Amino acid sequence: MCGIVAYLGEKKAYPIIIEGLKRLEYRGYDSAGIALLNGKMQVLKKKGKVSELENHASEQLENYDYSMGIGHTRWATHGVPNDVNAHPHTSNDGNISIIHNGIIENYDSIKKALIEKGHVFHSDTDTEVLAHLIGEIQKTEKLPLEEVVRLALKKCVGAYAIVVMDQNDPGKLVGAKFSSPLVLGIGDDEFFLASDASPIIKYTNKVIYLNDGEIVTIKRGKGYCIKNLSNETQNPKVSELDLKLEEIEKGGYDHFMLKEIFQQPTTVATSMKGRINSKEGWAILGGMKPNIARIAKSDRIILTACGTSWHSAMIGEYLLEDLARIPTEVEYASEFRYRNPIIKENDFIVALSQSGETADTLAAIKMAKAKGAYLYGIVNAVGSSIARETDSGSYIHAGPEIGVASTKAFTGQSTILALMALYLGHHKGLIEETYFRKLLAELESVPSKITKILAKDDHIKYIAGEIKNASNALYLGRGYNFPVALEGALKLKEISYIHAEGYPAAEMKHGPIALIDMYMPVIVLATNKSAYEKIVSNIQEVKARKGIVIAIVTEGDEIIKEIADFIIEIPEIEEPLTPLLSVIPMQLLAYHIAVMRGCHIDQPRNLAKSVTVE
Ligand code: M6R
Repeated sequence: MCGIVAYLGEKKAYPIIIEGLKRLEYRGYDSAGIALLNGKMQVLKKKGKVSELENHASEQLENYDYSMGIGHTRWATHGVPNDVNAHPHTSNDGNISIIHNGIIENYDSIKKALIEKGHVFHSDTDTEVLAHLIGEIQKTEKLPLEEVVRLALKKCVGAYAIVVMDQNDPGKLVGAKFSSPLVLGIGDDEFFLASDASPIIKYTNKVIYLNDGEIVTIKRGKGYCIKNLSNETQNPKVSELDLKLEEIEKGGYDHFMLKEIFQQPTTVATSMKGRINSKEGWAILGGMKPNIARIAKSDRIILTACGTSWHSAMIGEYLLEDLARIPTEVEYASEFRYRNPIIKENDFIVALSQSGETADTLAAIKMAKAKGAYLYGIVNAVGSSIARETDSGSYIHAGPEIGVASTKAFTGQSTILALMALYLGHHKGLIEETYFRKLLAELESVPSKITKILAKDDHIKYIAGEIKNASNALYLGRGYNFPVALEGALKLKEISYIHAEGYPAAEMKHGPIALIDMYMPVIVLATNKSAYEKIVSNIQEVKARKGIVIAIVTEGDEIIKEIADFIIEIPEIEEPLTPLLSVIPMQLLAYHIAVMRGCHIDQPRNLAKSVTVE
């Protein structure tokens, strides 16, 4: 999704903004632009990568002597990706420039009214309409920029994070947020506004996460002031970022995705830190502790999420019903929010999100909150909107995930869900003590077992080479491995562009079996102890139709080795914890296939890391 960077201070703004835009590239975008102000405003925009904007700037920029400016990476919603639709957009008189993340839903009616007043539009975007609206109000009301922005936003319906700059009011930036993220960075005599902390961390660790409906005004030499849409001054909390620059760099890996896959022994261990002790026999989540009695008595748990987070939610459903015996439902946030669901007072609603900014998940929990539900967040991005909107929660502490394909967030979320199920099940007295301690010890062993799987990277790469030219792939799994099959298929399609589907293994014969021929790779997650014979039969059914079987098996499996074309062995683990291991080969397989096909690993086409629009 769109990325925002703005700077006001004593340093040269251009390199700071360009570097910041590069740090935000991971969010996904198709064009970029910048507006710089030093007496006169210069606006430069280019379709394509930030590097193309840089080339354009090296020809067009009159000088580099600007100490304030706004920059943007655009992920197209209204209008195709091109130079004209790229941000910043300017007001009718060209004095005001604006960058925007989100969608102004009522832009069409505002645009028509402005056209009647003589405004001429150049782009297809909703953002240009907002720029003109601000300009029009300024022309008629003659108020300070921040006040004009406030009045304009009161006329808008939709989502926005914006930064506005006026060449007639130099030394001032105005930012505002509603449903899209915006962070204020506070340095020494310098200020930053950005979509997340990554462009800011190099300069300061003091930030304010703006709340919905807040407008920040930054004035050179005078500091900042935050008001709400009713013009009331706010008392914001200044947070200290717990983020290091090296965490947002590749650290010697070819891609962020590979770095993040290989970080998992550490990130899973960090997700568990202070939350489990097999020797003493406890698992706990601090966010649940004060309300554990109430949560344990829940009639129902509803897990809501999108994409990969939805897949970990499915693992949560299996875990919570298996170990805590609480009826659990998994909801796509985008469906849940619109289908008038039944939410009862005694339901426990859990939102899962890596970014904490996914628009559908955020809207789903706002809807559930309005119906009186108790909300819990399992989130990676600290200080994000979902983390702040939920009543309590558990951070997964995986560190910044930059590759668009989610990997370490999945294992982090699944770890928290395992802890949640163990905590609840034990609290309810449902898990026999020896088995409970066994599960705790097994969970603690996951990081070292992931390390063992990562050591098979060359073997997995070899298999990737054997199937890299496939046009389709089928992923099959049973029980705890079914959500992993879905996740494996999603990983492959999003970064390699190979069509892939995940299925419960037994469902294959109800349709997908028709697709199997000698060109079809079928990845079978076959580590289950329960239903082992059934999954062996499924493999036989694929082989009988000449499909290419890649089986993920438990170490020492001699039976499937004889039938499958390729096997990837993973260490033995208690079945409820299997997904934490069986997903690792899925991630590596997708990664290597995509590399061999020459795909953009960290920024696959059309995708955004943080989906902040519906
Ligand atoms: O930040 P979130 O976890 O809320 O994001 C949800 C999905 O957009 C995300 O998981 C997406 O499916 C990833 N590209 C999957 O790799």
